[in-house]
Amino acid sequence: MQNLITQLNEKFANASAEEVLRYFLAEYKGVIGLSSSLSYEDQVLTHIICSIDKTAKIFTLDTGRFFPETYSLIDNTNMRYGIKLQVYFPDYQKVEQMVTENGINLFYESIEKRHLCCQIRKIEPLKRALKGLKVWVTGLRKSQSVTRKNMQLVEYDQDDDIIKLNPLINWSEEDVKSFVKTHNVPYNRLHDKGFPSIGCQPCTRAVKEGEDIRSGRWWWENPEHRECGLHQRN
Ligand code: ADX
Ligand code: SF4
Repeated sequence: MQNLITQLNEKFANASAEEVLRYFLAEYKGVIGLSSSLSYEDQVLTHIICSIDKTAKIFTLDTGRFFPETYSLIDNTNMRYGIKLQVYFPDYQKVEQMVTENGINLFYESIEKRHLCCQIRKIEPLKRALKGLKVWVTGLRKSQSVTRKNMQLVEYDQDDDIIKLNPLINWSEEDVKSFVKTHNVPYNRLHDKGFPSIGCQPCTRAVKEGEDIRSGRWWWENPEHRECGLHQRN
């Protein structure tokens, strides 16, 4: 597997996101899926994917704690591209048990409780969403965070036994914004209100001009911990 990953990274070292997606959508038709949190990056990928193959799987892990603006964007995106984002919910029994035992806002109490919430509301549904897929497309970018600077265009995710494809890995925030503007891509209105990175409502806040773009995510934790486990499990 590692050979294939190296080969693919070499092959696409200078390719555009569109060229990369065109190749993977054809080569892995039916077994490739984009996980979308409706972020700027994921909207760019949705736009490109829909221009190549509207039947490709695009899914969102609805934690039940999204912002109202994010829910609106799901509808707008479906309408704009004539698609239906596949929505995955967490296991209701696990959510009921977690909330009954720990309260609805348990994540502020400790890292362990925050990870428990992310595990139940995101990671477990992700496992179901990835079942049967060979390629998992994400909107990760190196410059988003210290935790992402060593990521590659193509990676092998051992935990899920899947090829992970990050077509925007080398894009800057400016690249993303300019693509959204040029192509009139529907985006989350919270981006205009000081939210550069958007996750669940209780775990995301606005940041000031010039502050780190992910500093509004789980702001009460250290930067090294600010991952939900979707992308860092080893
Ligand atoms: S997170 O791990 O901190 O939540 P971030 O919001 O930066 O991740 O998003 C990085 C990538 O993870 C997105 O581009 C998307 O591919 C995936 N992702 C994150 N949250 C979700 C979600 N709720 N549903 C689907 N994909 C998601
Ligand atoms: Fe729970 Fe917050 Fe993680 Fe969302 S981001 S799943 S609310 S801990």
